[in-house]
Amino acid sequence: MTAAETANPTAAAALKRLSRPDLFTGSAFIDGKWVQPDKTFPVYEPSTGEVLGAVANMSRSDFVTGIRSADIGFRNYSTSTTAHGRSALLKKWYDLIIANKDDIATILVLENGKTLSEAVGEVVYAASFVSWFAEEATRAYGDVIPSSMPNTTVLTLMQPVGVCGIITPWNFPAAMITRKIAPALAVGCSVVIKPPSETPYTAAALVKLAIEAGIPPTVIHLIPTKDREAATELCTNPAVKKVSFTGSTNVGVFLSKLAMGTMKKISMELGGNAPFIVFDDADIDLAVLGAMACKFRCSGQTCVCANRIFVHNKVLHEFTKKLIAMVSTLKVGFGLDKSTTQGPLVNRDGVNKVKQHIEDAVSKGAKLEFGGTVPQDVNPNGFFIAPSILTGVTKDMLVANEETFGPLAPIFAFDTEDEVISLANDSEFGLAGYFFSKDVNRILRVSSALECGLVGVNTGKISAAESPFGGVKESGVGREGSKYGLAEYSIIKAVTIGNTNA
Ligand code: SIN
Repeated sequence: MTAAETANPTAAAALKRLSRPDLFTGSAFIDGKWVQPDKTFPVYEPSTGEVLGAVANMSRSDFVTGIRSADIGFRNYSTSTTAHGRSALLKKWYDLIIANKDDIATILVLENGKTLSEAVGEVVYAASFVSWFAEEATRAYGDVIPSSMPNTTVLTLMQPVGVCGIITPWNFPAAMITRKIAPALAVGCSVVIKPPSETPYTAAALVKLAIEAGIPPTVIHLIPTKDREAATELCTNPAVKKVSFTGSTNVGVFLSKLAMGTMKKISMELGGNAPFIVFDDADIDLAVLGAMACKFRCSGQTCVCANRIFVHNKVLHEFTKKLIAMVSTLKVGFGLDKSTTQGPLVNRDGVNKVKQHIEDAVSKGAKLEFGGTVPQDVNPNGFFIAPSILTGVTKDMLVANEETFGPLAPIFAFDTEDEVISLANDSEFGLAGYFFSKDVNRILRVSSALECGLVGVNTGKISAAESPFGGVKESGVGREGSKYGLAEYSIIKAVTIGNTNA
């Protein structure tokens, strides 16, 4: 699909400006070849609701072919490359991503809806995982362990697990792919990626650049499909040794059960319901900035978004007033317009969920302080909803119990630290949590008490390549990024060398 082929004039105009129009492709990449079958599925451009393009709709047998090729690719790649060689390949890929960041970001805006500055930020964030794991590749150390037996040495080897099935979400179409495949490629694995059906184009651009960087073609496979059943081959095929998934808890549990049929290693980065706590000793201006950063990033469509904002009664009025003032400066619109600070949601379902959460809360006594409507000056067919703020929210409301995944800030009031810790932990999820306080003892106490895998203290920004990302409870298993990320794609082999005196 080229700019000339898309029927969407907004998209066509933007695609014409790409320096590398070939990066926009709806093809699959299997067994070293780009393939475009007759069967396709539509991808929508969220600001108009119009079709952006038609993408290869691959079948279960295509996954079988891809996995078979990846198995051969893995055996060659893992034995014929050194850690330093793999590091060099990743560095080359990083350079190509950065050199093409504006084109990738444009494609990302067209399929996901986020603003251009957010998209450029995401591409740089995506690239940071590639450079991080290019460095980590050379540090896949094993151990030498003092043995309890005489004349014996125990060694451990970190070895690549094998073919990895990678299933990624639409909210970060670039970063969630690199966060998974950079460590896999670094350690010597091959990958079969099932990109999200909402945002498959960014994935294809990244795969093109990976091949240009010299990643062997049978080591990386991209298989878009709308057929979820077909994609489950990644969880059942015995040749796949690892499944990494980011998405909802329901789907994650389903895929984990399938993967356990052949005892695959799994990483599951699942749903969240992040508490965001503002104590009465907090710097309120900082807390408002933190809430803006983590609630409205990607129009509220991140797993680590503040989902429940708890504010101490003593500072409730000040915080709410300042948050409303700041939210009212946001400009909703098409992501490629320079003045836009909030893009549309990815689809109509996303908009409906925000509306449902607002209606439910208001019907149970909450007050809609701001937003709640579709902004006036946007395309009515686009998937838009204004950033919204509710006060008087209580734990019986849907917003308290479900991830909204949209630009809705629900504010709860509290009086004591014990009360708010108990409210914050009253969720089956445990991905991110945030709090604002100047008291160092409280900072240590609350960081330890929050039941989540990631805690932001006096900041709304917690994601970075060097920091381990992952949840507890029903938010998942495994850690992505950081010095722990390689282990998710490795096996530890213990080698006992006996009778060294013989
Ligand atoms: C996510 O929402 O799944 C990822 C967010 C991040 O990496 O910050």
